[in-house]
Amino acid sequence: MAPTPIPNLMSAIEIKAPGGPEQLVPAQRPVPIPKPNEVLIRVHAAGVNRPDVVQRLGQYPAPPGASDLPGLEVAGTIAIVGSNVTGLALGDKVCALLAGGGYAEYAVADAGSCLPIPDGFSFVEAAAVPETFMTVWHNVFERGGLKPGEVFLVHGGTSGIGTAAIQIAKLKGATVVATAGSDEKCDACTKLGADTVINYRTQDFVDVARNLPSKGVDVILDMVGGDYFGRNLKCLKPDGRLVIIAFLNGAKTEVDLAAIMMKRLVVTGSTLRARDLNFKAGLAKAIKRELWPAFTARQMPPLIHTTLSLAEAATAHRLMESSAHIGKIVLKIE
Ligand SMILES: NC(=O)c1ccc[n+]([C@@H]2O[C@H](COP(=O)([O-])OP(=O)(O)OC[C@H]3O[C@@H](n4cnc5c(N)ncnc54)[C@H](OP(=O)(O)O)[C@@H]3O)[C@@H](O)[C@H]2O)c1
Repeated sequence: MAPTPIPNLMSAIEIKAPGGPEQLVPAQRPVPIPKPNEVLIRVHAAGVNRPDVVQRLGQYPAPPGASDLPGLEVAGTIAIVGSNVTGLALGDKVCALLAGGGYAEYAVADAGSCLPIPDGFSFVEAAAVPETFMTVWHNVFERGGLKPGEVFLVHGGTSGIGTAAIQIAKLKGATVVATAGSDEKCDACTKLGADTVINYRTQDFVDVARNLPSKGVDVILDMVGGDYFGRNLKCLKPDGRLVIIAFLNGAKTEVDLAAIMMKRLVVTGSTLRARDLNFKAGLAKAIKRELWPAFTARQMPPLIHTTLSLAEAATAHRLMESSAHIGKIVLKIE
């Protein structure tokens, strides 16, 4: 079969200037040319992530060498294979982690950051996987060292990250506690498998965590920061681990060093986008090994809140900033 011709120009969404969702504007851009270690993907779906919002606000610039277009994860078909790439072929259906450039009809990805679309997954479901599930796997399991039988607390339980964290932690045999900002969101966390859910607007999560049969939790995945730092330390059992992936409530706080010493706590954190390609390739292999069997068995399909068109990227950001969503927001590109 002759390969589909690739146009010179593509539709994409640019960030015109730092600011509100109205700064996301449709544009025509040259189709990117893959380097020898890269593939060109005809994008059929692009995941929307909170870091895209932070980038749009001008607070999370693209790393050197990355596309200035937003978009950290896509799913689609391979349209060009770079000269040094092995194991991937024209027409392969893949999902990929990107350092930017996902809000577009075409995107380039390092071959090591590509994964086969799990059997039975739509492009939309597959586009919800790379950034989200890699972030959760690395932070909760590789950094936080969550083990079967331990108690895991995730804040923002209905965020893209939170829904994946509940699913993976349950898959791996942990007891899961999740916080969320409404009773409807708490119900969604329960449906995903959370054992205990806390509406943080009406309940003190520290009290709930300390009154669990386990008298605290072993690992916390936090995206709130600010005063949650000290409150998280109070929830942790001896030898507990706090993993920080964002600070929606602020990066500065007071620290009770005594709690860290007396309970032998570990405080860590990371950000995925800045990591090198070797690290990302290793992480892609790890999630394929650890999560693909459950994906193909449809044991934990990503929870999709809604799909919008590429031209509706600004609407997608408004929705994300309203925090009304439960699960992932995905742009569908015909
Ligand atoms: N470090 C990394 O490598 C990395 C990678 C990806 C994402 N992240 C971070 O992980 C977080 C989740 O990302 P996402 O794409 O899944 O975002 P998302 O779907 O937009 O979810 C964010 C959730 O956080 C909750 N929230 C917002 N403001 C809050 C506040 N002030 N206090 C408590 N909860 C608040 C909201 O739920 P409620 O209604 O329940 O409050 C909201 O649904 C983001 O902060 C993102 O920047 C980090």
